[in-house]
Amino acid sequence: MAILSSITDHSSLPDNRGEERLVGSSLLKEEIKLSKQDSLRPKSFEEFLGQSELKKVLGISVKAALNRGEALDHLMLYGPPGLGKTTMALVIAEELGVKARVTSAPALERPRDIVGLLINMQPRELIFVDEIHRLNRISQELLYPAMEDRRLDLTVGKGASSRMRQIDIPPFTLVGATTKPAALSSPMRDRFGITQRLDFYNHVDLENIIKRSANLINLSITEEASHQLAKRSRGTPRIANRLLRRVRDFAEVYSSSKLIDVKVLNDTLDLYRVDNRGLDATDRSYLGLLVNDYGGGPVGLETLAAALGEDSTTLENVVEPYLMQIGFLQRTARGRVVTPAAEKHYLLTSPTKIHK
Ligand SMILES: Nc1ncnc2c1ncn2[C@@H]1O[C@H](COP(=O)(O)OP(=O)(O)OP(=O)(O)O)[C@@H](O)[C@H]1O
Ligand SMILES: [Mg+2]
Repeated sequence: MAILSSITDHSSLPDNRGEERLVGSSLLKEEIKLSKQDSLRPKSFEEFLGQSELKKVLGISVKAALNRGEALDHLMLYGPPGLGKTTMALVIAEELGVKARVTSAPALERPRDIVGLLINMQPRELIFVDEIHRLNRISQELLYPAMEDRRLDLTVGKGASSRMRQIDIPPFTLVGATTKPAALSSPMRDRFGITQRLDFYNHVDLENIIKRSANLINLSITEEASHQLAKRSRGTPRIANRLLRRVRDFAEVYSSSKLIDVKVLNDTLDLYRVDNRGLDATDRSYLGLLVNDYGGGPVGLETLAAALGEDSTTLENVVEPYLMQIGFLQRTARGRVVTPAAEKHYLLTSPTKIHK
C-alpha cells in the first residue's frame, strides 16, 4: 500500500507522485465507493461524537424548525476534509425526519441539473451540495432566488422570443459544505442563515470515535491502544477509522490474538511508517529538509517544493496545515520556520524506530 500524498477535495489538487497517503485526510480511491454505504457513519446527534458546540447550535435550530413545522435555515458547513461535514448534513436530515438529496458542485454544472434537483422536491427536504465553492456562476445565480424566495427564474425560448418564467418551489434547506470557505462568492455566503465551522477533534473525542468504530466492526482494542491510535489520527475521524481498519488487517494476518494492543498498533504503524504524532514519510522529508538543510528556516515555499519534488499547492494545502495545527511549523512573511518542538520530534523519531 502506498502511503504518500493525497488531495484535499478529491480532484482539485494534483498529486505528482500518483500515490495516496494513509494519513491524508481526503478519501482514498478505495474508500470512495465505501463511503456511500459507510457503516461507521453516525446517524444521530447522539452518535455524532465530539464537536459539542456545533451540535448544541445545530440542535437548537433543528428543534426550533421542527416546532414551527418549517424548513431549517440554509446551512453552510466548512472545515478540513474528513471531520464530518457530510456526516453532519445526513444527521440533520435524519433529525428533521426529512429526505436528504446528496450532490456536489461538479454534478450541478448545467442549469438543468439544478432545475431537476429543485423541481421535484417535497416540502422541507434537505439538499446537500458538497464542494459548494466550485459551483459555476450560472448555477449560483439560479440558486440565489431559489434559496431566498423559493423561486426558480427560467428563461424559456431563444433569441427575441425568449421570456422569463418563474416557478415556485417548496421550502427546502440547502446544506453546503466546503473545505475552502474563502473561495465562496460573497452573495452565496450571504444566503446561508447558519454558518458553522468544524474543528479538528481532541484526543478524547477521537478515542471515543475509535472505540465506537471498533465496536461496530467487532474488534477488541485495549484502552491504551485506542488512546495511542487517537494521538496518531491527526485530529480527524476519517484517518482514525482508516488506521483502525489497517490495524485490523494487520492483526488478522500477523497476530495470533484477536485483541488489538499497543504492540499490534505500533507494528502496523511502523510498517506504514506513521510515527507517534501521525506524521508520515512526506511530513518527515518536509521537516528533515527544513531542519537539516536550512537550519530550521525561514525558507520560501517554492524552494521547499522544488527541493522535495512536490507541487507547492500540495505542500500548502495538504502537508502544512497539520504541521501548523500541532505547533510544528510557522508561516512567516520571510518563509517557513520549524519550531523547536518540531526539531526535537524530528531528531527523536528516526524513520526505522519511530515508536521506540
Ligand atoms: N463525529 C463523528 N463521530 C464518529 N465518526 C465520524 C464523526 N465525524 C466523521 N466521522 C467519520 O469520519 C468519516 C469522514 O466524515 P465525512 O465524510 O462526513 O467528512 P467530510 O468533512 O465530509 O470530508 P470531506 O471534506 O472530504 O467531504 C466518515 O466515515 C464518518 O464515519
Ligand atoms: Mg464530505
